[in-house]
Amino acid sequence: MSKAPQIQIPAEDLTRQYQQIRWEIAAAMDTVLPSGKYTLGPVLEKFEEEFAAYCGVKHCVGISNGTEALHLILAAMGVGPGDEVITQANTYVATSFAINYVGAKPVFVDIEPEFSNMDVDQLEAKITDRTKAIIPVHIYGHPVDMDPLMKLAEKHNLYVLEDASHAHGATYKGRKIGSLGHAAAFSFYPSKVLGAYGDAGAAVTNDDEIHRKLRMLRYMGQEVKHTHEVIGYQQRLDPLQAAILSVKLRYLDRWVDQRQAVAELYNELLADLPLDLPQQADWAKHAYYMYTVRLKEREALYDYLSAHGIGSQKIYATPVPLQPCYRYLEYSEEDLPVSVKYANELLCLPVFPELRADEVAHISKIIHQFFEREVK
Ligand SMILES: Cc1ncc(COP(=O)(O)O)c(C=O)c1O
Repeated sequence: MSKAPQIQIPAEDLTRQYQQIRWEIAAAMDTVLPSGKYTLGPVLEKFEEEFAAYCGVKHCVGISNGTEALHLILAAMGVGPGDEVITQANTYVATSFAINYVGAKPVFVDIEPEFSNMDVDQLEAKITDRTKAIIPVHIYGHPVDMDPLMKLAEKHNLYVLEDASHAHGATYKGRKIGSLGHAAAFSFYPSKVLGAYGDAGAAVTNDDEIHRKLRMLRYMGQEVKHTHEVIGYQQRLDPLQAAILSVKLRYLDRWVDQRQAVAELYNELLADLPLDLPQQADWAKHAYYMYTVRLKEREALYDYLSAHGIGSQKIYATPVPLQPCYRYLEYSEEDLPVSVKYANELLCLPVFPELRADEVAHISKIIHQFFEREVK
């Protein structure tokens, strides 16, 4: 039996970063563990203040994960049964599951071909008198073109909730992602651009009322302890994770720049190949959560890379509305042509801040070999 090839360069490697900051992480743990305070408290509040300031917004509420941040923001916006929320077909299921959690109906638009983001031009046709909110997703780390979207939302009196789970540190016309809609949800899942060492998330907003409700909703509906104003949830961010995130937040801009450097090197080394490379608008700073290439022979390149010890990822290989759980919504491939095409062609190459230039060169060499082999 032939042995599976050993992966030498993984699609993502979190251990390298940990080794660089392990003493700072240990010191941060030491601020929490001896304190005896293992939920809420000053360490969490400190991170919330720091992350709000980083995003350029008034408030941050630490929540147990990104999915719950989306869910609780929709609840705080008052979205519920009978309402509709529009999002994009190309995202992680968490975006639309959050809509289901509040009892509303997810409505999907296709993506635009340049950045794989929500096609804002398709939104207006989907707006009905039940529509309450729009959730744009800054997919792979590239911002959605927010100005026309916000204009449309204002015209129809809709909330905009940014799903910023891929885009920590990205900017739109110089403004930080997370500060552009009425609220934003972040995931700090370990592999994210800013990742915790376990599940973690946050909601950010400039809206005082959304902030007040979020604080109640994440902790059993309480504004004052033991008085449960509303049916709430047990979805706080742990101070241990908050302490880790405070350390890592100090490095975030540097890590985004390192991701950008990796992307620029790939762009240069892969430029002459018949591959679609990721674009960055002149109004955007891409966070490069993913470095995405597109090609018809996606499956063959995936296998070829893995046979040569290189990890890559196919996300998201099935557009969300075509997942079995959404059969009841009756979307077909014809409704979402760009999402379907990209779902079949997209491959994410390794990208993380600690990926070395010689590794990017090696990966690029193997991709060149793949195309040379194809034409023989
Ligand atoms: C676009 C998007 N939204 C939401 C989430 C949910 O975040 P979490 O895994 O922290 O619940 C993710 C996580 O992968 C995501 O990629």
